[in-house]
Amino acid sequence: MTDLASMCYRNLILPVPFIPIECEETQDGKFHEIYVYERQINRDMVDWLGSIGLRAMHGRYFYSPSTHRYNLHVDILENPDEYAYLNFVFGGKGSAMNWYSLKTDQQKFTITNAVGKKIYGYKEEDCEIINTNVCLDSYKNFATLINAGIIHTMINPSEERRCYSWFLYKEKRVCWHELADIFKPWFIS
Ligand SMILES: [Fe+2]
Repeated sequence: MTDLASMCYRNLILPVPFIPIECEETQDGKFHEIYVYERQINRDMVDWLGSIGLRAMHGRYFYSPSTHRYNLHVDILENPDEYAYLNFVFGGKGSAMNWYSLKTDQQKFTITNAVGKKIYGYKEEDCEIINTNVCLDSYKNFATLINAGIIHTMINPSEERRCYSWFLYKEKRVCWHELADIFKPWFIS
């Protein structure tokens, strides 16, 4: 496995549950994305994160209908190697995330995501897959650290999927390498 491939994700089992937040749903059944905040997180999870020195200040909720697939992207324009989330996934049986590297001489382009932020997009034919992970069910206390600074997508094959994706902070936002270190005791893969 290349260095980049080994930095895509880490699956975790956590000692406390994350309780799914009731988010407003659109009626059209289409993909949507909204911001969520620390005050909406169950107290056990806030306290546990606090016990390891972290705060999930804000994040995003993604609703994906079955058969939804994201375009290839990274979630930031600068310092992509250091961009990480803590993900909790409910439903979406068999949903998977894939990570890619850009082939030599191919180009990224700027796109706007569903919450109006500028990010980089990529054509699938310009990229090579480097890693994949089937998402684990957070009803069983599973969570995943995601490196969103590496080109990635999500493929949701069979049922609705709800994902809560959190930015983690100390005094400032914590990078992938530091998070991978902090969460090491709860790694399962
Ligand atoms: Fe992303």
